[in-house]
Amino acid sequence: MALYGLVADIHGNREALAAALAALDRRNVRHLLCLGDIVGYNADPDECVAMLRERAVLAIAGNHDLIGLGRLDFARCSNKAMYSLKRTRRSLSAAAADYLAELPGYRVIGKRIVLVHGGVRDVEQYMVNEEHIRQNAGYLAADFPEARLCFFGHSHDQKVYELRGEAVRDVPLLPCVPLLQDRVYFINPGSVDASRKREHKLAEFAVLDSDASQVEFWRVPYDCAATEAKAAVFGYRIPPLVDRAYTVRKRLFRRIARKAAAR
Ligand SMILES: [Fe+2]
Ligand SMILES: [Fe+2]
Repeated sequence: MALYGLVADIHGNREALAAALAALDRRNVRHLLCLGDIVGYNADPDECVAMLRERAVLAIAGNHDLIGLGRLDFARCSNKAMYSLKRTRRSLSAAAADYLAELPGYRVIGKRIVLVHGGVRDVEQYMVNEEHIRQNAGYLAADFPEARLCFFGHSHDQKVYELRGEAVRDVPLLPCVPLLQDRVYFINPGSVDASRKREHKLAEFAVLDSDASQVEFWRVPYDCAATEAKAAVFGYRIPPLVDRAYTVRKRLFRRIARKAAAR
């Protein structure tokens, strides 16, 4: 039986990652896959990298990992993300940066499974509706003709989209979702880090049982008070005045760009 544990959007949250990995151990999952955004938002980027390395997790790079390395700019970042990523850039160890720098943009597991972070061709695209899925199903068919399961992260919500030809179905989320042989699926295992979630503070992840053709969706508690306290103490939470200043600066840059384009 092949069980794959899928984690995404860890965002430097060591407590949430530890809780997710402990639950995966209890489920006897040995193959671990990570869909990127290992760093950003929280205070333990180095520790999260070390935990993934220790378990030989097969990971890909997310936009936060690329921004943390300085390979991608802040243009499509929210104020909160930009502020915490500036802090991440200052704190990331050389060893953790080397690890992140080696991560590929996607992975193919046994031909049928593809791992991406955002969209199939754009690490910063949010796939959050049926139109996005239809567009990316076209990219998937062109770039990975044998793929049937595309796991993605970035949008931080547990999701299953099922495709039959051009028709996309937003599958109701159950603890265990069966996967049919003649369909293509886009699956988001959710976000390990729940610090930005309002609805709950649980670490989300998924388990793919490739033999039984089903995906399990998990949510487990972690010490979110400890994560939040560290993020505040170590300067990962944007102060309100800085937030306002970032917004004013963005508006100013947009106005200047519009004027320049109109000339
Ligand atoms: Fe993320
Ligand atoms: Fe992301």
